[in-house]
Amino acid sequence: MTNWPVHAAWNGPIVIIGFGSIGRGTLPLILRHIACKPSQITVIDPDVSRSQWSEKLGVAFLKEGLTRKNYRDVLTPLLTTGEGQAFIVNLSVDVDSLDIMKLARETNSLYIDTVIEPWAGFYYNTKLDNEARTNYMLRQGLLALKEKLGKGPTAVSCCGANPGMVSWFVKQALMNIAADMKIEVSEPHDHPGWAKLMKKLGVKGVHIAERDTQRAKVGKQMDCFVNTWSVDGFISEGLQPAELGWGTHEKKMPKGGKKHKVGSRAAIYIERPGADTRVRTWTPTQGAHYGFLVTHNEAISISDYYTLRDKANKVVYRPTCHYAYHPCNDAVLSWHELLGAGGKRPAKWKILEEDEIADGMDELGVLLYGHKKNAYWFGSQLSIEEARKLAPYQSATGLQVTSAVLTGMVWAIENPNAGIVETDEMDYKRCQSIQRPYLGAVVGVYTDWTPLQSVGNLFAADVDKRDPWQFQNILVP
Ligand SMILES: NC(=O)c1ccc[n+]([C@@H]2O[C@H](COP(=O)([O-])OP(=O)(O)OC[C@H]3O[C@@H](n4cnc5c(N)ncnc54)[C@H](O)[C@@H]3O)[C@@H](O)[C@H]2O)c1
Repeated sequence: MTNWPVHAAWNGPIVIIGFGSIGRGTLPLILRHIACKPSQITVIDPDVSRSQWSEKLGVAFLKEGLTRKNYRDVLTPLLTTGEGQAFIVNLSVDVDSLDIMKLARETNSLYIDTVIEPWAGFYYNTKLDNEARTNYMLRQGLLALKEKLGKGPTAVSCCGANPGMVSWFVKQALMNIAADMKIEVSEPHDHPGWAKLMKKLGVKGVHIAERDTQRAKVGKQMDCFVNTWSVDGFISEGLQPAELGWGTHEKKMPKGGKKHKVGSRAAIYIERPGADTRVRTWTPTQGAHYGFLVTHNEAISISDYYTLRDKANKVVYRPTCHYAYHPCNDAVLSWHELLGAGGKRPAKWKILEEDEIADGMDELGVLLYGHKKNAYWFGSQLSIEEARKLAPYQSATGLQVTSAVLTGMVWAIENPNAGIVETDEMDYKRCQSIQRPYLGAVVGVYTDWTPLQSVGNLFAADVDKRDPWQFQNILVP
């Protein structure tokens, strides 16, 4: 048996809300790396078919769907009975992150999630305008709560692979680029310091560039949505408006692009679904390809974190940042089917389990572009074969997420009084040291690719040839 490193100890209750692909992959990692007993842990999920995985590990399963009405009554006794401080691990869909964070504060519990999730109904509410359905507005709610609650028991927001791990990658990539350019820098310790470094290196923007090449053993059936992580989660975010952090170097707003009237205004949204919005991007294995501009919290938080303002509070530097996601091939086909049917939900859906995948990997990293060395991709290349060897019950995609959740929990235990934190604010070195054994090859690669190289020459294209890294050249019209 392997001697797994124990990173932290916990003697209070641990309540895992949601036991889908990420919940059941996270549980064995908690038991491996955080000293605690299975009897301290309770899993909550309305779908009883999930209980087999928790029962195997001796962990109690509570069949319940949390709602705005019942969450206090269900959670409070679990958080307050017995010894020790509680830890809430919110890995569900349709359970409001902010309400659970407030309850965590009231009960002196630590908290972590992987996305700012609203209560059921939000994503498909046709009475809300598109701005109200953006991740920008969801994050505004988080920032307001962060300010209101101030310091107190730590609540880590959006700590999966992306959002999450990729924020630690951006910092590492900046340090690597500085070293490769032979620019001497002392490591920044705060947000203006990091923003100054990004500006100094001449970075214009960041793609969260992900190519998932995992292939199912059995081909996709008609009217079935297939993915390597939450189908529910992916459909919800894919039907939100496309969103991106909007850099100071950008000259031309995209068609349908809208600015916000409140907050830092670090991001814009586009009046079309992210899953129906394609961008030109690059990852090491595939090279140039199309990704979906699906909205993600990190696109906004990273652009905000790396913003520099002058004394009059005017923005003087900000990078563009967005997701450029090529999901597994079956998911691309699934979107084609769903969007072609006017957004109608498919009759069936399937999250591929590790033994249902024939081969492939999740190549997930950050592409920092526009600087003197053109572009640099830094990230994880985790194959399904390696993921199977490293941990049970998950695909390569799952393991990149669950190892980030584990990392965030350890960081919260080590920093228990930080209040609400975003992953951009965490110690990227400590986090990487915990997570790295689960990421397969972690590589940094320079490329001379620019989006202009991906614009074909048979048809006229509205591109800016003087600045290859304008978003105008990245967006596929
Ligand atoms: N940041 C990241 O990198 C990242 C990556 C993958 C997933 N995620 C997010 O993590 C969450 C979980 O993803 P997943 O792949 O495990 O999803 P999943 O769809 O496999 O599982 C979600 C689980 O939540 C349960 N659930 C639904 N309603 C509930 C309720 N009211 N109360 C309690 N449980 C409820 C479902 O029954 C299901 O078991 C999603 O919000 C997803 O968007 C984040």
